[in-house]
Amino acid sequence: MIVTWKALFWLIHILGLTLWLGSSLGALLIWPHPQSQEKKQNVIAIVHTLRSLVARGSFFGGLLVAISGTSLSLILQPKSELASLWLTTMQGLGVIAFILAFFVLPRVERTIFVQESPPRNEFDRAQNKYRNLVRIIVLLLLLCLLMAAFKPQ
Ligand code: HEM
Repeated sequence: MIVTWKALFWLIHILGLTLWLGSSLGALLIWPHPQSQEKKQNVIAIVHTLRSLVARGSFFGGLLVAISGTSLSLILQPKSELASLWLTTMQGLGVIAFILAFFVLPRVERTIFVQESPPRNEFDRAQNKYRNLVRIIVLLLLLCLLMAAFKPQ
């Protein structure tokens, strides 16, 4: 077995994207439906738990992906590979997803989850906004993954 920097950063990259995509997509899959008949207090508790899963998964996963992705870009050989379409698309969409997860998502979170017991319709509107943003991030991450999966050999 040969341990190289490339293999190490690749491993961290995949680990990070598993954590980031896994937590965000997992939360979306079990997110309670706005019209759900579940008691309001239960919905609020579930949404708070899912939100913290998304926040922590994005934070640790996003950091790992960004640091390892930048390192992989710096050590990539031959340098002409940096101009390939799949890689530049992955980098571009990855950076947009990172900005959304690190700067936009926490702002939305702060403005909408501050009230202790918000009215039901206000809370539904707020959680819809949050969920839509997570959907966009997941979509961007899936596109990055598609780019890597179908890169020219
Ligand atoms: C933050 C921006 C990102 C940068 C700068 C970046 C950069 C890179 C680089 C340089 C490589 C190695 C390419 C090679 O050795 O041929 C790579 C591989 C990879 N990246 Fe990214 N990446 C980023 C985000 C992402 C995201 C968000 C995903 C998926 C959700 C992703 C998925 C992958 C996968 C699966 C590989 C392995 C491809 C292979 O070895 O065949 N990357 N990335």
